[in-house]
Amino acid sequence: MDDSEISTHDAEEDIRNRDIMIYVNGEIVPRAEAKISVYDSGFMLGDGMWEGMRLYQGKWAFFDEHMDRLFDSCKAVSLNIGMDRQGVLDALTQTAEANGMTHDVHCRLMITRGVKSKPFQHPNLSKSGPTIVIIMEHSKPAAHLQAKGISLATVPQVRGLPMSQDAKYNSHSKLNCVIACLQAEQAGADEGLMLDPHGFVNTTNACNFFIVRKGEVWTSTGDYCMNGVTRQKVIDLCKANNIPVFQKNYSLVEAYGAEEAFLTGTFGAQTPVARIDGKKIGPHDGTGPMTARLQSLYRELVAQNTQP
Ligand SMILES: Cc1ncc(COP(=O)(O)O)c(C=O)c1O
Repeated sequence: MDDSEISTHDAEEDIRNRDIMIYVNGEIVPRAEAKISVYDSGFMLGDGMWEGMRLYQGKWAFFDEHMDRLFDSCKAVSLNIGMDRQGVLDALTQTAEANGMTHDVHCRLMITRGVKSKPFQHPNLSKSGPTIVIIMEHSKPAAHLQAKGISLATVPQVRGLPMSQDAKYNSHSKLNCVIACLQAEQAGADEGLMLDPHGFVNTTNACNFFIVRKGEVWTSTGDYCMNGVTRQKVIDLCKANNIPVFQKNYSLVEAYGAEEAFLTGTFGAQTPVARIDGKKIGPHDGTGPMTARLQSLYRELVAQNTQP
């Protein structure tokens, strides 16, 4: 594979995904028929929230943590989901059953402010109630991501202060991150490494970011990045296994000089970083020993959390 084609969300090709069933506001319909209005708040304005979750052994990994983030975000922007957590779980279960899916499944659960009466911004124009869509695909992260690691480029776009658009919103509007991703692509890298407003290393456009230095695991303070479920699990695993872990400010100098670096996210779990701004990270090709240890601890945690 050409390096320029790599993305952190590359999955093994699975032809079953051509014929999946998709949940749209309580109906479960074939992929080709799954449509929403051009007046939808999500389409018009990016006014919505979403969660990416994975199904293993018939159970959603870290379901409560995903629901905490979703319900908090929706409350903060006065978006009424119109159902409680059990209702969301039931909708997910119906969609999984309609697809006969139980394991190695990735889901994008999307909730928007619904259909607007006019093509303008005011939330009061969204009178239909929310639009809820659930897309589930058979999904295994591509093996080459682990084998080779990915490349990052530091980009001008930052993830900023919470009084702008709080980086903790998993909002439909990802334009900030999309711009960062474009900048990385134009620099010849797979994903953008974003700094915080003070110039410290922060996050990537689609995942959280960690480095390993002298046996210590470092990540950003968390003030300017997504409160990633996987990020928190890695921090918790380090603490539970006596691996020194720090949420702190650090700069690119320390990132370039790291022995290992990896991304975290629900899709890829822990994805090794091979290069930042063209500089090779550490002596390893692909996964280094700390990343491998955390990958193994995380796999065990997912297995425990999704025990049938
Ligand atoms: C910008 C950004 N950072 C990090 C993450 C990873 O979060 P999680 O570990 O909850 O999947 C996501 C996932 O949606 C994201 O969009």
